Amino acid sequence: MIIYRNAVPDDLAGVAELQKRYHISTILEEDKADGFVTTLFSPEQFLSLMRDENGLAVACDGGKIISYAMAASWEYWSAWPLFRHMIADLPNIEYLGRVLSTENSYQYGPVCIAGEYRGQGVLEHIFEFSRRQMASRYPVMVTFINRINPRSYDAHTRKVGMDLIKTFDFNGNHYYELGYDMSRPVPGTSLL
Ligand SMILES: CC(C)(COP(=O)(O)OP(=O)(O)OC[C@H]1O[C@@H](n2cnc3c(N)ncnc32)[C@H](O)[C@@H]1OP(=O)(O)O)[C@@H](O)C(=O)NCCC(=O)NCCS
Repeated sequence: MIIYRNAVPDDLAGVAELQKRYHISTILEEDKADGFVTTLFSPEQFLSLMRDENGLAVACDGGKIISYAMAASWEYWSAWPLFRHMIADLPNIEYLGRVLSTENSYQYGPVCIAGEYRGQGVLEHIFEFSRRQMASRYPVMVTFINRINPRSYDAHTRKVGMDLIKTFDFNGNHYYELGYDMSRPVPGTSLL
């Protein structure tokens, strides 16, 4: 049975192992077509995500970390240049009847699922768990996906139900920017 919960410091080794397996800099060539993550976290950044943001959700199967999903305030993300670019652009975006800001939105992702557990609803459930952690703080979720990661785009739009807000370019890469209405539970999820 797969359990969804907030990470604790003891989970760091398992999360770091999964990050290494699917990070663009260390992923096996044959795994790339099924998606990769680009934001790289240090152990200190993982700890701060847990401690200061309540923003590290994990899925475990028999004590093994098989998925993680990050979520945090824009202030946390401002350490990375790509997110500074997204923050500066928020006031240009109107979504769900609101002009976006660092107060009314947060950023979800990266998310990662071990290859053996894909296609089984883990994404919908870990996002739903993460959504519940953040829903009392923010009405809107924002995320980005590299346009050369079609599996992630398909899963997040078609299965989770995220909306395409816009596309943008940064540092020679092309991205989708997606949004989600935080008052809306992910259909078909059955978390207690
Ligand atoms: C992206 C990720 C979270 C999606 O979760 P998942 O469990 O694999 O998602 P699912 O298998 O339920 O859904 C993916 C869908 O995309 C489809 N798909 C696969 N490859 C595809 C491609 N190249 N183009 C379009 N769709 C594709 C699949 O067929 C599947 O749809 P189906 O179930 O109707 O067949 C997971 O694959 C993952 O962790 N990848 C590595 C890290 C990553 O990319 N993270 C996201 C960064 S933004």
